[in-house]
Amino acid sequence: MKRILSGIKPSGELNIGGYGGALHQFVKMQHDFECFFFVPDLHAITVPQDPKELFQRSKDIAAFYIAAGIDPKKATIFIQSHVPAHVELGWIMETQVHFGELSRMTQFKEKSDGKDSVSSALFTYPALMAADILLYQATHVPVGEDQKQHLEMTRDLAARFNSRFEKTFVIPEPIIPTIGSRIMGLDDPTKKMSKSNPNKNSYVLLLDSPADIRKKLARAVTDSEMSVRYDWDNKPAVSNLIEIYAVFSGESTETIERRYEGQGYGGFKKDLAEVVVEKLVPIQERYRDIIDSDVLIRILKEGAMRASETAQITLVQAKRAMGFVTF
Ligand code: TYM
Repeated sequence: MKRILSGIKPSGELNIGGYGGALHQFVKMQHDFECFFFVPDLHAITVPQDPKELFQRSKDIAAFYIAAGIDPKKATIFIQSHVPAHVELGWIMETQVHFGELSRMTQFKEKSDGKDSVSSALFTYPALMAADILLYQATHVPVGEDQKQHLEMTRDLAARFNSRFEKTFVIPEPIIPTIGSRIMGLDDPTKKMSKSNPNKNSYVLLLDSPADIRKKLARAVTDSEMSVRYDWDNKPAVSNLIEIYAVFSGESTETIERRYEGQGYGGFKKDLAEVVVEKLVPIQERYRDIIDSDVLIRILKEGAMRASETAQITLVQAKRAMGFVTF
């Protein structure tokens, strides 16, 4: 059986980077895998969160899963903190990971860079992420490029545990899409698109109005060459826009290049905005229908129950293998 586990942190409003690298992949994969999609709220608090915002964003991410097309009857959708087994296995994983391994994580280096103090949880975060995945015996984990290193660590930890104790965990494979796994900022194609960028024009949020989406994409940086060509080495800004176009239209980068051959950037950017608006407006409508509904609460309660059942089985196996007294 092929099984997926993945999630999007509720630490900022969702942007089209998370859509390309994660959400859009989740929707496509739900037909071929048994799926667990969760809201990693315990990961969000590794950096300070405003309680009201954490509350709203956690619900938002769950609502976006459904609004984007994940079928809650097929996939299990849940909030991480509703399944305490994550924290328990997370602690166990902390005892297996080495300080030196955690020190090499580039995301920790980036997020702690220049800060006077960061939480110790920000440092041990990959151990909790490994627990998230291993609890469900996920065979595959769809993620964007920036999570690759954490996935490698998860694989190492699973193998280490299996050889030190007894074979308990499935070793998961990352699924990193060739298109959309690294959507860059609209103002600077060398930086990942991220809500933490103070320049609001550098990202498109899933809840941006059509007018804002058009404005932001019209302002996106390009280059002076005036040719729509997919070539990351020489034309990163334009290649980034082509990739966004490909994610939202479902077309290949070659088809897009061919369509705009010999044309400047004006028409291309206008069409790109329409492709994005066309996809996001129905998602926004469904999001608004569901966000304050009982349906969402019911789906999350049911999801937590289903997830807990699976997680508990693995947790007991792991504890037994380590020598904990279990009944
Ligand atoms: P997070 O919340 O930062 O991002 C969620 C997913 O979106 C992808 N992503 C992007 N993809 C392409 N371009 C971008 N600009 C972009 N920004 C974000 C990320 O690669 C990710 O796949 N640690 C994880 C959350 C997590 C998790 C897990 C994921 C916790 N436990 C277990 C998978 C399995 C994170 O912080 O992702």
